[in-house]
Amino acid sequence: MKASLSTSLLRSVLYVPGSNPKTLAKAPTLSADGLILDLEDSVAPEAKNQARLNVLSTLHATRDTPNLVRVVRINAIHTDLWHDDLTITLPGRPDAVAISKVESPDELEGPAALLRHLEETQGHACRLWAMIETPLGVLNALAIARHPLVTCLVMGTSDLARALIIPGDPQRIGLRHALQQTILAARAAHVQIIDGVYVNIRDPEGFAAECLDGARLGFDGKSLIHPSQIAPANQTFLPGADEALADQTIVAAWNEARARGEEICVVHGKLVERLHADQAAQRLARWEMAQKNSKSNPEI
Ligand code: COA
Ligand code: MG
Repeated sequence: MKASLSTSLLRSVLYVPGSNPKTLAKAPTLSADGLILDLEDSVAPEAKNQARLNVLSTLHATRDTPNLVRVVRINAIHTDLWHDDLTITLPGRPDAVAISKVESPDELEGPAALLRHLEETQGHACRLWAMIETPLGVLNALAIARHPLVTCLVMGTSDLARALIIPGDPQRIGLRHALQQTILAARAAHVQIIDGVYVNIRDPEGFAAECLDGARLGFDGKSLIHPSQIAPANQTFLPGADEALADQTIVAAWNEARARGEEICVVHGKLVERLHADQAAQRLARWEMAQKNSKSNPEI
């Protein structure tokens, strides 16, 4: 059974450079569902050690922040950096560790051993997020997602586009197959999946369009690089209040049908079977979770 993080709300997941104390201080005050405290691409080689200490203190400072998923992104397994990344930051008890450029489940075993040790000795269940950002990672996504500690896949679309040798394209035509194949893998393995970043922070229209594209494809949320991207992502990756009301009507009508001993009913001209009622109940549960988040954080 996959761990509890697979049910957390992850509409908006903000990367925060571990080497920048200003962004690290600001991030927990924003309304992102999750933070990826980064030790990889946004941190210069000479700043790695200080970044680990910064991330550790942010983890301590946010330990009791409600409705905030705290993730540390470590350097790739083929580097000599990831082990120190983990041993220095794990005492801060992150909810998950994101590993970049994962290409096979075997690569997860080194970090997984440290996480299992943490759980056995201190009872803290920290899970793995695998970044899929190479062609081989996409091809092996199902095996990666099935690793027992993995609760989420994260698309690294910039690295993937570079590896596929495709131009930047607002329709993401060259990425489409890879995005859909990785979503299939995530769903088959019952883990969440987060779309890649939109790098132009001064293009809100382009960002909104890509968010909608991601939601239609089936992503649970989007990874972000700037605070201005949080509110649109939170809105896009959740049904609106009118849809939530419609879902309530469907669930209520189907429950009434069941009470009459029937298995189907019609709501506003549409057939409702158990699968539709279950789907509506699932969406409603996400919506209710988001309402709780917004109470604790009025910015949403
Ligand atoms: N997390 C938290 N706070 C952030 C932030 C982030 N990712 N990006 C910007 N901010 C803060 C800034 O510190 C600034 O705070 P202030 O108002 O208190 O001064 C505010 O948001 C506005 O920032 P802005 O001036 O518009 O942007 P910038 O020029 O400071 O930074 C980037 C632009 C792209 C360098 C920055 O957004 C960033 O570092 N993003 C993350 C990059 C990353 O992690 N990449 C790796 C994964 S792809
Ligand atoms: Mg990358």
